[in-house]
Amino acid sequence: MEDLGLDKNFWKNKRVLVTGNTGFMGSWLFLWLNILGAKVLGYSLNKSFDKNLFSCFPRDLKSKTIFGDIRDYEKLKKTINNFKPEFIFHLAAQPYVSEGFLDPIYTYQVNINGTLNILDILKNKNFCKFILNVTSDKCYFNNDSRKNVFNEEDRICGDDPYSNSKSCSELINHTFIKTIYSKKNIRLCSARSGNVIGGGDRGINRIFPDLMSYYFDNKKLYIRSLHSTRPWQYILDLIRAYLHLAKKSSLTNKKIFEGPWNFSSDLNNHKSVFDMINFLDKKYKTIKYKKMKNTIKEKNYLHISNQKVKTILNFKYKYNFEEMLSESLDWFKFQSLNSKKELFNFSIEKIETYYHK
Ligand SMILES: NC(=O)c1ccc[n+]([C@@H]2O[C@H](COP(=O)([O-])OP(=O)(O)OC[C@H]3O[C@@H](n4cnc5c(N)ncnc54)[C@H](O)[C@@H]3O)[C@@H](O)[C@H]2O)c1
Repeated sequence: MEDLGLDKNFWKNKRVLVTGNTGFMGSWLFLWLNILGAKVLGYSLNKSFDKNLFSCFPRDLKSKTIFGDIRDYEKLKKTINNFKPEFIFHLAAQPYVSEGFLDPIYTYQVNINGTLNILDILKNKNFCKFILNVTSDKCYFNNDSRKNVFNEEDRICGDDPYSNSKSCSELINHTFIKTIYSKKNIRLCSARSGNVIGGGDRGINRIFPDLMSYYFDNKKLYIRSLHSTRPWQYILDLIRAYLHLAKKSSLTNKKIFEGPWNFSSDLNNHKSVFDMINFLDKKYKTIKYKKMKNTIKEKNYLHISNQKVKTILNFKYKYNFEEMLSESLDWFKFQSLNSKKELFNFSIEKIETYYHK
């Protein structure tokens, strides 16, 4: 079996905490780790997983979740102390740019205190070997030039509240690596992930979920910004990359795995919203949309480099832009026609097919 962090021998019985496991990305990670035989515990809010992947999990899988707020230091501490995770994937966040404008205080509190709480709770503990703090590609200082391709050395400072809260989370990571964790045997990394496409994303004001709601929930489609380009990537490419990083960095004392990682597809897959609509229109069904004035102050251009992931992790993405859209469309199509139980089995098949591609 290729060494991509996925072999069952490695993950079997590993104790893994996934915060945000009821969300879009967290639920795929949670499912995959369960398939690999890890002992997984989730920590999330008890809301807003209607119609995503988590909603189709059987009861016994769902029950491996502690419902709590990431800002609740005592509850989180108790959870971590009882479970003693060797690996932590921290995804719980207020993850929406538009919500950041509506409620900046909440956004900063969740995205900063969540990170801070986890790192502080673990500062005197020895059971944890690896923490991945999932931030965002939006954490960079972006002057919206078409030519920018950010790498991990570039300046951190997002403009809008969501992006900036993720920049703050990055700074907290940096401080813990350089000082409080400097002598600890724990690999602390951050994931500056590009925009993710996949089955079960029900995100607010995100283009792909909006397109899926248009197709399958008869919702009207409003487009804010047709020519925005983003560093898209397929959900399973990203989860495989997280697992690969976790395995590699936990097996070595080398500091090269510590710190920030950009995750995105190659530059030729960083396409526009227009390209996405065009592809789906031809591939599946005609799309009629209304252009709306963009009241959300967001960037037109965002490109990150995946050179570090390629060279140091020796990691290759499997799916291009068209494949990630087709695969994800497939999931939503299946959901619209089948029961939750069938969707759960179909999602496991998706992981297996992806893995063997
Ligand atoms: N989806 C993307 O394209 C993308 C891109 C880059 C980074 N990210 C980051 O990845 C992570 C997951 O994003 P997603 O798209 O799966 O979001 P999502 O909204 O689908 O899931 C968010 C998860 O966080 C949990 N959560 C939210 N607030 C919480 C709180 N106060 N306490 C405890 N749990 C809380 C929710 O319960 C849910 O499980 C986030 O950190 C997000 O910023 C996402």
